[in-house]
Amino acid sequence: MTTLDWQDIRRAAEILRAGGLVAIPTETVYGLAADATNDDAVARIFEAKGRPRFNPLIVHVRGMESARAQAEFSPLAEKLAGAFWPGPLTLVLPRRPDASVSLLVSAGLDTVALRAPAHPIARAVIERTGAPLAAPSANRSGSVSPTSPAHVRESLGDKVDMILNGGPCAVGLESTILKIEGEEAKLLRPGGIALRDIENVIGRSVIRADGARIEAPGMMTSHYAPESRLRLDVAAPERDEAYLAFGPVPASHPHTLNLSGTGDLREAAGNLFAHLRALDALVREKKLKGIAAAPIPQEGLGEAINDRLARAAAPRP
Ligand code: TXA
Ligand code: MG
Repeated sequence: MTTLDWQDIRRAAEILRAGGLVAIPTETVYGLAADATNDDAVARIFEAKGRPRFNPLIVHVRGMESARAQAEFSPLAEKLAGAFWPGPLTLVLPRRPDASVSLLVSAGLDTVALRAPAHPIARAVIERTGAPLAAPSANRSGSVSPTSPAHVRESLGDKVDMILNGGPCAVGLESTILKIEGEEAKLLRPGGIALRDIENVIGRSVIRADGARIEAPGMMTSHYAPESRLRLDVAAPERDEAYLAFGPVPASHPHTLNLSGTGDLREAAGNLFAHLRALDALVREKKLKGIAAAPIPQEGLGEAINDRLARAAAPRP
């Protein structure tokens, strides 16, 4: 459900070229975009999000040509980009010494995270702006990622110069992030592309991070958090809990939203953040005890869904 409104896209590109912030739809979640080559503009992103300075940002490019100008691509990196771009895969790669993107996007690291989004509006805006766009998810730091323009407005309304409407996000989960070191791929964040699909392409396993060191701050323990208390792996919720269901469930529980009635993990991923927000609001409105989430199978996109749920349920800092 995407129509390209060229007038809007032109206006977005003008704002971005002038150093402003535009919320753009991508296939994963809405991004809070700025010209990645403009230090001031990138700094505005951190301000708007209230994000700790040490969090580096993903840079969105049109494709390989502009990506190669920013980072060193090993043969493995080339292969992954060839297979999954445009799409929900982010590659953390060694930064080229002559990279044009702001040092702020790397937050002091000698790497840069690159992704070519598939959403036609995101692609058109990047092209029209004529620069790569730094864009974290368009929400206040630590809260649930936005999958619709309304979510962005609620979270950042007065802090962005423009919100481009691309309807709901098709994938609904952030990109999978891999750090590429030569011929090794290390998982920094599970996301919109399942590991098994990546492993099929590269013919070897992806290294799971040990969790001992924070390599991607998306890996901070409490993140993606709703306001309400969240209980996981709950097959039978209590009456005074809001229920995030998955698969066929008895219709009797009063405050239920189902991620997917048929148990489809892709559909569930697409609904995850919107349902968490809606249940959070329901808990406030009905003064419930909290949210209970159904068990989700740890396979395919289920791995990323469980990762987000575990963070959302983690003790708050
Ligand atoms: O799907 C997505 O990836 C969305 C859309 C808008 O593209 N973006 C997104 O960005 O989720 P953000 O900023 O919310 O998450 C980016 C993650 C953070 O956990 C950040 O720490 C990590 O990427 N990251 C960025 N650059 C990195 C780098 N050089 N090394 C390690 N991690 C990096
Ligand atoms: Mg985020």
